[in-house]
Amino acid sequence: MDAGYTVEQLRAAAADAVRAPSLHNTQPWRFRLRDGGIEVLGDPSRRLPATDPSGWGMRIACGAALFNLRVALAVAGVPATVRLRPYPAEPDVVARLVPDVPRRPTPADQALYAAIPRRFSNRAPFWPDPVPADARWRLAEAARAEGAWLELLIGMSAVNAFAEIARSAHKVLERDPSYRAEREEWIRAEPAPDGVPVASGGPQSEPQDLLPSRSFGGRNRAPGRDFEPEPLVAVLGSPGNTAVDQVVAGQALQRVLLTATDAGLAVSMLSQPIEVPSAREQLRLSLGRFGTPQMVMRIGFGQPGWPTPRRNVDEMLDLPITQG
Ligand SMILES: Cc1cc2nc3c(=O)[nH]c(=O)nc-3n(C[C@H](O)[C@H](O)[C@H](O)COP(=O)(O)O)c2cc1C
Repeated sequence: MDAGYTVEQLRAAAADAVRAPSLHNTQPWRFRLRDGGIEVLGDPSRRLPATDPSGWGMRIACGAALFNLRVALAVAGVPATVRLRPYPAEPDVVARLVPDVPRRPTPADQALYAAIPRRFSNRAPFWPDPVPADARWRLAEAARAEGAWLELLIGMSAVNAFAEIARSAHKVLERDPSYRAEREEWIRAEPAPDGVPVASGGPQSEPQDLLPSRSFGGRNRAPGRDFEPEPLVAVLGSPGNTAVDQVVAGQALQRVLLTATDAGLAVSMLSQPIEVPSAREQLRLSLGRFGTPQMVMRIGFGQPGWPTPRRNVDEMLDLPITQG
């Protein structure tokens, strides 16, 4: 190929890609340049064996990083054509991006791009103000644009039914010592390039909480107080549950998260009911939708917060020896 991507384009776009979310902020991705194409790879050494035995979480995170990469390249005027899982013999290669016809970035590309460094998981309670109808519509559209669906749970009975499934999944996970050990291993009390900083971990949960929150060592709350009145809960799903479907869902997740950030909304993720197969099946049946739930989000107007650290992008690049 004569007009491929350059090392500089790869490095710049990868610096945006790594702002994607990942389980416990493990950042389980790598990027390489091969025959003029940028390739996104899962990094199996950063998969969580107890929390993510199947690699679902790694593929969601890589899909989210891939979405950032696409947006960054589009804004740089060098948009990509993407092939997912291009080499059957190399399942760790999540996607290959080759240059498409150059074009000027659209206002939508620019808005999504501007949201990349501003997005973060906001685990604090949200204000009671409801998410407006036009924002809800934009979030659902964002998922649809990436080949996924977003189901917003309407009314307290739907939220309560979901909460029961989520709480029992949370209990199942917390009973597993290796799962607990993994969660604790990735809590960061001191500055670090990966893991969940205690200050971003949100407050400790209380027995009366509607939604179960993963404990990342956050501060205690005033006992007996409700976390928040009526959260907006959204379930993101994909048509199937193959490895490709999970990468598609990761891209859709990131588009939803960036769209929410652009709309001034805060989001946190809760994936316990996705990680426990029986809970995921119950959730699927309760929604009555075709396809598989891939992520759950809590969406609202949040208190101020800040992005979490990332490793140096150069640690995640495999550059060809002949270039760079
Ligand atoms: C597949 C996946 C599952 C996640 N599950 C949870 C979860 O159950 N609870 C939670 O608080 N955060 C969850 N997160 C959010 C990550 O902890 C978060 O993205 C990571 O710590 C980086 O922080 P950031 O989102 O602020 O950039 C999940 C993220 C991904 C990609």
